[in-house]
Amino acid sequence: MRKALFIRNASQLVTLEGSSNAPLIKGAMSELKIIENGSVWIEDGVIQAIGTDKELALRYAARLGEADLVDATGKLVTPGLVDPHTHLVFAGSRENEFNMRLQGATYMEIMNAGGGIHSTTRATQAATHEQLFTESYDRLNQFLRHGVTTVEAKSGYGMEWETELKQLEVAKELNEKHVIDVVPTFMGAHAVPKEYKENPDVFVDLLIKEMIPKVAEFGLAEFNDVFCEKGVFTPEQSREILEAGKRHGLVAKIHADEIEPYEGAELAAEVGAVSADHLLKASEKGMKAMAEKGVVGVLLPGTAYFLMAESANGRKMIDIGVPVALSTDCNPGSSPTVSLPFIMSLGCLKMGMTPAEVIAAVTINAAHAINRGSEIGSLEVGKKGDVTIFNVSNYMKLQYSYGVNHVDTVVKNGRVVVVGGQLA
Ligand code: NIG
Ligand code: FE
Repeated sequence: MRKALFIRNASQLVTLEGSSNAPLIKGAMSELKIIENGSVWIEDGVIQAIGTDKELALRYAARLGEADLVDATGKLVTPGLVDPHTHLVFAGSRENEFNMRLQGATYMEIMNAGGGIHSTTRATQAATHEQLFTESYDRLNQFLRHGVTTVEAKSGYGMEWETELKQLEVAKELNEKHVIDVVPTFMGAHAVPKEYKENPDVFVDLLIKEMIPKVAEFGLAEFNDVFCEKGVFTPEQSREILEAGKRHGLVAKIHADEIEPYEGAELAAEVGAVSADHLLKASEKGMKAMAEKGVVGVLLPGTAYFLMAESANGRKMIDIGVPVALSTDCNPGSSPTVSLPFIMSLGCLKMGMTPAEVIAAVTINAAHAINRGSEIGSLEVGKKGDVTIFNVSNYMKLQYSYGVNHVDTVVKNGRVVVVGGQLA
């Protein structure tokens, strides 16, 4: 492999430069900082120069022969897409529940009857490390083919230490062995295990006194997430769990106001969470509190679509000043997809976001939702050479021509890893 990679002459090079310190809000979410006929020079995995093709061809005239070339003529070039909320590591699948829901059963009914998250937990507990690794590795390959170069991955299908540990160790190995960067989150508080149904506080205690300290001690996760939802964890329990994580250096995230309004957005602002995710039923007060504290709203319109629910009000959140990001929520129950580009179209069609806002939401704002804003999410000198090239001439067409995988080329750390839509 050569050291340098020269991506040349994109019809639109979306840089999003200048937003590494804080996520974009309001009107700034539409300022994509596009360079027409744009080129990028990457060396040793890091972006060295960005500009028009003319500028860069001149600057690197003496070194053109050293670089591998990617011709992006007529194509759209963006930062590698970032998926800030996935349940990547799991076993099994739940098409039977999909069928039940189509006949009227609800997501929570299925879960309360011992299915849903509990069903995937049983499958994940039974799977070996190797099985989980192989299945998740395949999913990462699919993510890559959809233009995604970084994913966050939650545990939470163990709910006892051995399996939570197994999931986090698999995530660690995936991060080491797959080109995609995998950012780990502990989510022991994903559901209350059956044996604690009558005494959920005993389980909360177990999370706080045993599991969270061990996760932190072994360096297994950066974030600590909780499913704050009626019938799962109350806002009080969620606060305790998130505060315990913070005491151990784990940054708070929260599954908030997904099915019922439950003041999850307010709680996210109160505990200083980096993000609050879902937010279908978030109150205006909660949105304002998030905006004030700069909590990223990670919206998951694929989950709303798949649960046949109304999407979060992305438009309103952006107008209020919440920094909005988008994600697949990839998981076997409420969003079995890896297609972030499809989620992007849903962002436009179901949440009133513009194509420009959606691009910001899956790049720089998604990076900020996992505390990676200074490394990825925009194309600027010094950032990782993570780049996605689409077979469309402009960024609007990407979301307009929906349900199609337009990814042509993916570059990760300056290396071409997808060519012609296929793994290189
Ligand atoms: O983000 N809401 C909770 N957790 C996941 C779904 C997990 C599952 O159903 O397996 C979510 O939607
Ligand atoms: Fe989720």
